[in-house]
Amino acid sequence: MAKTKITVLYYSTYGTNHAVAEAAAEAARQAGAEVRLRRVAETAPDEVVQGQEAWAAAAARQGDIPEVTLDDMNWADGYFVSVPTRFGAPASQFRAFIDTLGPLWSRGELVNKTITATTSAQNPHGGQEGTIQQVYVSAMHWGAIIVAPGFADPVKFEDGGNPYGYSQEGGALSETGRRSVAFQARRLVEVTGRLVG
Ligand SMILES: Cc1cc2nc3c(=O)[nH]c(=O)nc-3n(C[C@H](O)[C@H](O)[C@H](O)COP(=O)(O)O)c2cc1C
Repeated sequence: MAKTKITVLYYSTYGTNHAVAEAAAEAARQAGAEVRLRRVAETAPDEVVQGQEAWAAAAARQGDIPEVTLDDMNWADGYFVSVPTRFGAPASQFRAFIDTLGPLWSRGELVNKTITATTSAQNPHGGQEGTIQQVYVSAMHWGAIIVAPGFADPVKFEDGGNPYGYSQEGGALSETGRRSVAFQARRLVEVTGRLVG
């Protein structure tokens, strides 16, 4: 039987969502999926990125990760998304990529893809739930199938309890966070596997 195909796509300015995406990719591979780890292209001018030490350092750490393309979206059976919260919404770099999906959408090529999403924000109530919901709203327009974690694993009672998707404050991925992301990735692989047979 063919392996379930998962594209882990993320955007990260300072590295939080990069770390989440790496953890998700590793967990999805361990769950038996074929995985593409892809970063959303930067839209900020290079002088702005290079002008802030933390931003430039995080960008350098991500230099080897390929930018996500329409082919990565078409290829996958399911998507694991990780994107920072910006003013209560997904970062504009992510939105810019989503807004290039019209051709795939118009050919019905996003129908029945599965999706699960995670985010980070500076504050515990800085908009995490809304950001993930906004990712899912776009996915509903595609006819995609949302695979939220809910409280389907005990780790959800330890990780802050966002049932829409793992979320954290910006910074390092904790051990609990890693287990939560791994659960969410595993659940995506398992549910997607049932759908694609
Ligand atoms: C323009 C901008 C807007 C932001 N808006 C919010 C916000 O609404 N709520 C919040 O808690 N944090 C906000 N933040 C903080 C980011 O969410 C935080 O830097 C991000 O989650 C870190 O993820 P990263 O390390 O992957 O870039 C904002 C940051 C920027 C640069």
